[in-house]
Amino acid sequence: MSKSIERLGLGTMRMNFDNQEESIKTIHKALKSGIKMINTGEFYNAGATELVLREALKDIPRDEYVISLKYGALPDLNGKYYGVDSDIRNIRAHLKYSLTRLGLDYVDIFEPARIDENANIEDLMNELVKLKEEGYIKYISLSEISPEVLKIANNIHHIDYIEMRYSLINRGIEDEMLKVAKELGIQVIVYGLNASGKLEELVPKNILDKLKEFAKSRNITLPVLCYAWALNKNKDIICLTGCTKETHLDELINALNIELSEEDIINIEECLEGIDIYNKQMLKNKIIDGKYV
Ligand SMILES: NC(=O)c1ccc[n+]([C@@H]2O[C@H](COP(=O)([O-])OP(=O)(O)OC[C@H]3O[C@@H](n4cnc5c(N)ncnc54)[C@H](OP(=O)(O)O)[C@@H]3O)[C@@H](O)[C@H]2O)c1
Repeated sequence: MSKSIERLGLGTMRMNFDNQEESIKTIHKALKSGIKMINTGEFYNAGATELVLREALKDIPRDEYVISLKYGALPDLNGKYYGVDSDIRNIRAHLKYSLTRLGLDYVDIFEPARIDENANIEDLMNELVKLKEEGYIKYISLSEISPEVLKIANNIHHIDYIEMRYSLINRGIEDEMLKVAKELGIQVIVYGLNASGKLEELVPKNILDKLKEFAKSRNITLPVLCYAWALNKNKDIICLTGCTKETHLDELINALNIELSEEDIINIEECLEGIDIYNKQMLKNKIIDGKYV
């Protein structure tokens, strides 16, 4: 895949009623720029994100965007996730609520937010395949899974996409997942490239300074460098950006034009020596019987 605009997708996790106006401008900017993939979750802001999306997409022809939808994460009354709904009988209800909020009759890409350690993968896949056959979803995706579970699921029915966390400070997928996905013909979508906005918090100042210096030498900001690193290092992945602001989106689209050589990639990664690049901030929780443990 060349560094064309299809290599970017827009994530909507932070879009809600409080920033609706700016979010809608950003969604429209993305579509106008040629970004088609819009990633969301039924549980993002407890359903508010889908309503913002509905407003943003109401006048856009359905074939001009691709909706990628996660279901199943369970927020408590403060919005903090405490588990996932792992009951396969409820998948249709989750999808029905989402379709109603989005004002759509199908989504393009559909995925469980997380897979329970005790899930029956065969039953889960059979239900997803039925939804596909019935036309409610077009493609099956899995999020934050292990290579082992991916292989099991893909043996039951081809998995079209996987969605995984990836950034300069979280390179876990480089170990095995990228290779497995390639062998199985599965498109990898990554998120969290700007460390979900927490780079300054998670990386010591001396290292940040080195990265910023590198970014400055290319006339770009640190978030743009984070994207340019991923896009140049991996020619086949789709990168989701989680930005809500139009100006940030503009900057990130520009990351597609940044050429980094293999030596540049090595130099960037050397800046991070000593850092835990398998930072599993989001992966440390397992889900057993619907609860994070
Ligand atoms: N599969 C999963 O489990 C999973 C988990 C988490 C997220 N996701 C999806 O992936 C998407 C992206 O994830 P993420 O939000 O963690 O991504 P991210 O791109 O790492 O972080 C987004 C944050 O970075 C900031 N940012 C982005 N571009 C910037 C720029 N050029 N300059 C300064 N700040 C910039 C954004 O600010 P502004 O908002 O101010 O623009 C926002 O606070 C989400 O929206 C969601 O759709 C999936």
